[in-house]
Amino acid sequence: MEYYVDIADIERVRAVNDCFPIDGFTTNPAILTRTDRPLSRLFGEYRDYVRETGQRVFIQVTAQDADGMIDQAVRLHAYFGNALVVKLPAVKAGYRACKELKRRGMAVCVTVVHSTMQALMAAKAGADYTAPYISHIDNIGADGVRCVDEIVRAFDRSGYACKVLGASFRTVEQVDKLAIVGCHAVTITPETFDMLIAHPSTDVSMRGFDAGWREKYGEAQITDFLPQD
Ligand code: G3P
Repeated sequence: MEYYVDIADIERVRAVNDCFPIDGFTTNPAILTRTDRPLSRLFGEYRDYVRETGQRVFIQVTAQDADGMIDQAVRLHAYFGNALVVKLPAVKAGYRACKELKRRGMAVCVTVVHSTMQALMAAKAGADYTAPYISHIDNIGADGVRCVDEIVRAFDRSGYACKVLGASFRTVEQVDKLAIVGCHAVTITPETFDMLIAHPSTDVSMRGFDAGWREKYGEAQITDFLPQD
């Protein structure tokens, strides 16, 4: 499964990347309103980051019409290069832009997906990714995890190469369940990365190792016992 950090602050992306095997980061218009940094400076830092790491950056268009979306996507791609995956909303204009941008060979994610049909249409339009909003789907009385399960199966049956990028999580359990149903990618907050690997029993065992070691060997470290050849 691919893992992305869902955040605008590149320093926090770097902090996650220091510890976890991530594939890049994702933004959307709402996320970009939550930073006080000037966006023009931030975008320069995004470009430096993807050039350094070879990872992907997902950026969503803000135009409402297809021509505007296509124009923005082309300009974003000219700036970020092939590291960019352009996010297009799952509305008519977004699907039209998707078809055209795929014709031009750009990587595309159809986002703000709330149903299996929206995702299937994205795959048929050639999207590389489609992003169902898990918690939003739960909040409208449906089941986000089941929706992803259906999408993954439907893509398999139809032979679509489109990847499902699960987004909008409230719990670690949702991420866990998406992995089990074969979701191809998730985008999550830095805090969720920490929670994914946190386990109290691991902490208990670690304290036990440390106490036992110190009791017998004090402050010495394991490498202190390597023979000097
Ligand atoms: O990637 C989509 C995500 O940022 C949406 O999050 O908080 O609106 O569910 P939220």
